[in-house]
This record gives sequence, C-alpha cells and structure tokens, in this order.
Amino acid sequence: MIKLPLPRNPVSLVGVLLTTLGAVLFLIFFLADAFGLHTNPYMGIVFFIILPSIFVFGLLLIPIGGWLHRRRIAAGQPDVWPRIDFNNPRHRNVAFVIFGLTVINVMIVSLAAYSGVEFMDSTTFCGSVCHEVMQPEFESFKAGAHARVGCVQCHIGPGASWFVKSKLSGTRQVFAVLFNTHGRPIPSPVTNLRPARETCEQCHWPEKFHGDKVRVFREYGDDAKNTVNETTLQMHIGGGTSATREVTGIHWHTSASTKIEYISTDDKRQVIPWVRLTDRYGNVRDYVVDGVTQADLAKGEHRSMDCVDCHNRPGHPFAATAEKAVDAALASGDLPLSLPFIRRETVAAVKGTYPNQLTATDAIAVKLREFYRTQQPQVYMTSRPDVERAVVAAQAIYSRNVFPSMNVTFGTYPNNIGHMDFPGCFRCHDDSHKSKDGRVISQNCDTCHAIQ
Ligand code: HEC
Ligand code: HEC
Ligand code: HEC
Ligand code: HEC
Ligand code: HEC
Repeated sequence: MIKLPLPRNPVSLVGVLLTTLGAVLFLIFFLADAFGLHTNPYMGIVFFIILPSIFVFGLLLIPIGGWLHRRRIAAGQPDVWPRIDFNNPRHRNVAFVIFGLTVINVMIVSLAAYSGVEFMDSTTFCGSVCHEVMQPEFESFKAGAHARVGCVQCHIGPGASWFVKSKLSGTRQVFAVLFNTHGRPIPSPVTNLRPARETCEQCHWPEKFHGDKVRVFREYGDDAKNTVNETTLQMHIGGGTSATREVTGIHWHTSASTKIEYISTDDKRQVIPWVRLTDRYGNVRDYVVDGVTQADLAKGEHRSMDCVDCHNRPGHPFAATAEKAVDAALASGDLPLSLPFIRRETVAAVKGTYPNQLTATDAIAVKLREFYRTQQPQVYMTSRPDVERAVVAAQAIYSRNVFPSMNVTFGTYPNNIGHMDFPGCFRCHDDSHKSKDGRVISQNCDTCHAIQ
C-alpha cells in the first residue's frame, strides 16, 4: 500500500488542508451549478473567486512550508538541496503522488479560472453583485428590448484585447465601489465604450436596413376619459450600401461610405458646435455654428459618429418624463384605461418625492387607493381589481425609472433619439450648423419622417 506522504511541518500541513477543502467544496459547487442550483449572485463570488483563491493559497503554502522547515533543520549547516533517489521506494512514491496531484490541481485551477471568468461575464455578476450601484442600469436593461443580450456583448464584445481592457477597468470599478468613490449617478456617456460598430453589428446590419418604419406615438389626457391623442410618423429608417444603391435616410450616417466626425464641448455630448462630413467621393465639408472659437473646439471631445451617438440608451431605456412612462403603460395595457383620471393620478403618484424605493412603493399604493376610495367611490366599489392592477403598474414605473440613492430619476440620462425631450437629432440638425459653401444640417421635418 502507498503511504500518503503527508508533509511533516505545520505550514505545509495547513496548505494541504486548505487545498483539499477548497478543491472539494469547489467541485461540489461546480456540480451543483451545472445542475442549475446556483441562484444567489453572492454565492458566485464565494465559489468562483474565494474558494479557488483558498485552493491556490493552500497550494503555495505546501512548498513554502517545506522550504521553511528545511531551513530550520539545516540551520548552521551549509544549505543543501534534498537528494532525490528513484531507487528509494519512498522517493518514488512521493514523486508519483506529487505528479498525480499536480495534474489534478492544474485541471481544477483551469476549471476554476474558466468558471470564474464565465461568471464575471454573466449578466448576474454585472447587474446584481454591486446591487445598489448597478440597479438603475440593471432594472432598465431588464425592461428593454435587449433583456436577453448579455451585458458583455455590448460592453466588451468579441476578441482578447477588449477582454483584457475590460478586466483592468473592471478592477478599478471594484475599488470605486469598495471605497464609494463612484459617481451617483454613474456618469454617461461611457467614454471608453468599445466602438459600437464592433459590438452592435454582431447582430444588426444597417447596410440591410431600408425603407420606412411606421411608428404611432400615443399621448393621453388628464381628463376623466384619459383621451388619447395619436401621432403617426413614417420614419425614414434608410440604410444600404453605396455599391448596390444610393444610401439615404437615417442610417446613412453610419453606412460604409459615410464618415461623420464631431466635436462636443460639454461632458454629456449634448453641445456639438462642429461637424465634419467625408462623403463617399472623399469630399470633406465642415459645418460650424456661428461664434464658436478655435479654443472652445480644442478643449472639446473629438469623435467619429457611430450607433451610440443616436442609440445611446439601447440597453438602458429610462423614460424621459413621468408622462411618457405612464403613456407607455396605458398604451401597452398595463395601466387600465377604463379608470377615470388614471393618467393624471398615476403621473402625480410616480412624480412624488420619496426617500427610497421601498417608501415609494407603499406611498404610491396608498395615494392611488385613497384617490379612488374618496373621490371615485363608485369606481372603487365596482372596479377594485383594476385599481389594484394600476397600483402594481404605477409601482413598476417608479421602480424602473427612479433610484433615489443613485440620484437617478426621469430625464437624468438624456436620450439622443428624437428631439422632443432632449436635443437629440437637433444637436446637429438645427439649421445653424453652416458650411463654407452655404449648406446647413437641415431641420426640415420631412428629412427624417413624414407626419401623418
Ligand atoms: C444593447 C447593448 C447593451 C447591453 C446589453 C447593456 N448595455 Fe450598458 N450601455 C450600453 C450603451 C450604448 C451605454 C451608453 C453609452 C454612452 O452613452 O456612452 C451603456 C451604459 C451603461 C452604463 C453607464 C451609465 C449609463 O446608464 O449610461 C452602465 C453602468 C452600464 N451600461 C451597465 C450595464 C450592465 C450592468 C448591463 C447588463 C445587465 C448592460 N449595461 C447591458 C449598451 C448596453
Ligand atoms: C447579441 C445581439 C445584439 C446586440 C449585440 C445588439 N442588439 Fe439590438 N437588438 C437585438 C435583438 C434580438 C433585437 C430585437 C428585440 C425585440 O424586438 O424584442 C434588438 C433590437 C434593437 C433595436 C430596436 C428595438 C428598440 O426599441 O430598442 C435597436 C434600436 C437596437 N437593437 C440597437 C442596438 C444597438 C445600438 C446596439 C449596440 C450598442 C445593439 N442593438 C446590440 C440584438 C442585439
Ligand atoms: C443618426 C442617428 C442614428 C444612427 C447613427 C444609427 N441609428 Fe439606428 N435608428 C435611428 C432612428 C431615428 C431609428 C428609428 C427609431 C424609431 O423607431 O423611432 C433607428 C432604428 C434602428 C433600429 C430598428 C430598426 C427597425 O426597423 O425597427 C435598429 C436595429 C437600429 N436602428 C440599429 C442601429 C445600429 C446597429 C446602428 C449603428 C451601425 C445605428 N442604428 C445607427 C437613428 C440612428
Ligand atoms: C453629429 C451631427 C448629427 C447628428 C447628431 C444627427 N445628424 Fe443627421 N445628418 C448630419 C449631417 C452632417 C448630414 C448631412 C447634411 C447635408 O446634407 O449637408 C445629416 C443628414 C441626415 C439625413 C439625410 C440623409 C440623406 O442624405 O438621405 C437624415 C435623414 C438625418 N440626418 C437624420 C438624423 C436623425 C433622425 C438624427 C437623430 C436621431 C440625426 N440625423 C442626428 C449630422 C447629424
Ligand atoms: C433630424 C431628424 C428629424 C427632424 C429634422 C425632425 N424630426 Fe421629429 N422626430 C425625429 C425622430 C428620430 C423621432 C422619433 C423619436 C422616438 O423614437 O422617440 C421624432 C419624433 C417626432 C414626434 C413624436 C415625438 C413624441 O415624443 O411624441 C413629433 C411630433 C415630431 N418628431 C415632429 C417633428 C416636427 C414638427 C419637425 C419639423 C420641425 C421634426 N419633427 C423634425 C427626427 C426628426
């Protein structure tokens, strides 16, 4: 029988124990995770980061302990290396066991590193580990069109170099959370975001966009009937490649043959006094706002326009105003249109100032119920389930858009699509960006949409 060669010094012995404990717990958890038993994001930190660290720490202790031990017994004598003799059966066994364990250890460490990385790239990790900090982005993300796209698909994208960059900046962010030095709200734009052409275009292909898209905007009134007012816009989506057909419409800006650069002079990219267009023939035209100085421009941020200069909220669509959020819930049916004054009352309830989300949830429920109980007792009697449905919808509107502890509320993050609530397209399309040859970036309504 092979006698297990346990180290004969306490440090190495602790190392063996830690390594074994780390490995066994890690393997148990890995199997549990594989069978779908992993739910709490904090468990992920424990198992994929802390246990592997204990494992590796234990491994390191074993040779360190051995070395200290040998130094101690050899004190006073010249330092000699241990003599390994494979004719000695004990040496053979030790070598055999060390080799076997090393193979197993390398496998465990690789598995741990792989699952650790996979875990750190998961939506759960990005969205819910630093819960409070990421809550606004995570809640809006879950309500948006990209709820099933991973954070890393937009924020990191494919390839090794952005992976490394993201891990470096991620380490900085962990410290910012630990020492509470991050902004509230988290600042936008993300200045080091990967160029959108390398991420969005993994799934979207603007060269293939074409034609118009009809959109109906619904706005509801503050009257008892919540009267709807509809605007139908035929958006000139456009797109295409110059090789096959003339590129026109909205996606002309990011077609392969167009290059637009701009300089913004504020930190939110909302003030854009200088725009340069390089067209498909290589002609260059600069559009400049009157009165802007070279010194202003030199201080600004110079950027090439890409998807996120218009679509800056694809992953995190917050409502621009409480009214817009309520109108969307009425249009989708989440808020029952049949309740008199539901538009007015919901807007008032979600616009209230509350110290935190928990208080808000209770206060919104009380406000709505009280209104119908005291002002519309008939409705309250007959349509109680609708009132309760409205309470749930109003609470959801609040908790998706307002985060008091992060100083995020309606309109905190500007949305660059459109021009009603934020400057958006009109940052450039305002008829006052002029070129030397007398062209302007047009505000003509029909450039972008036909209003029906
Ligand atoms: C569809 C692509 C997409 C997905 C998926 C996505 N994001 Fe974003 N995210 C963006 C874009 C685009 C911006 C804003 C870029 C800009 O304006 O510079 C952004 C901004 C942010 C910001 C900065 C603050 C802000 O709101 O502008 C944070 C934090 C963030 N995302 C976290 C996350 C987390 C966490 C997830 C996953 C739960 C995620 N993102 C998923 C595209 C995405
Ligand atoms: C992993 C694939 C993937 C990536 C990456 C991705 N998208 Fe999407 N996107 C989708 C899918 C799928 C839909 C359709 C969702 C639906 O309609 O339910 C969509 C929908 C959209 C829409 C229309 C829906 C809406 O109202 O928001 C826009 C605009 C959009 N994406 C822009 C972007 C931009 C900008 C980026 C890069 C920052 C991006 N997407 C990255 C898969 C992706
Ligand atoms: C000049 C601003 C602008 C740029 C740049 C831009 N888009 Fe758009 N995009 C729009 C507008 C405006 C719409 C229509 C929005 C609406 O539905 O009201 C749109 C619509 C879309 C849609 C939905 C299309 C549909 O038929 O429903 C997708 C997907 C999309 N864009 C992806 C992209 C991607 C990917 C890029 C970068 C390669 C990009 N866009 C660049 C302004 C822009
Ligand atoms: C950074 C500046 C900038 C922003 C922001 C911008 N545009 Fe433009 N856009 C331009 C320039 C420059 C032109 C070309 C002007 C010319 O014809 O001389 C243009 C042209 C257009 C055209 C005509 C394209 C064609 O030839 O068929 C459309 C449509 C358009 N823009 C839509 C939009 C929409 C919609 C938005 C907002 C979502 C937007 N733009 C935001 C700079 C901008
Ligand atoms: C440079 C492009 C551009 C020009 C010029 C433009 N629009 Fe728009 N407009 C948009 C886009 C993009 C949206 C869609 C916003 C969205 O998806 O929420 C929009 C939305 C709208 C809406 C519905 C908005 C809402 O939130 O209810 C109205 C109304 C509107 N435009 C009117 C006009 C009028 C009137 C003009 C002319 C003075 C005009 N627009 C010029 C790009 C443009």
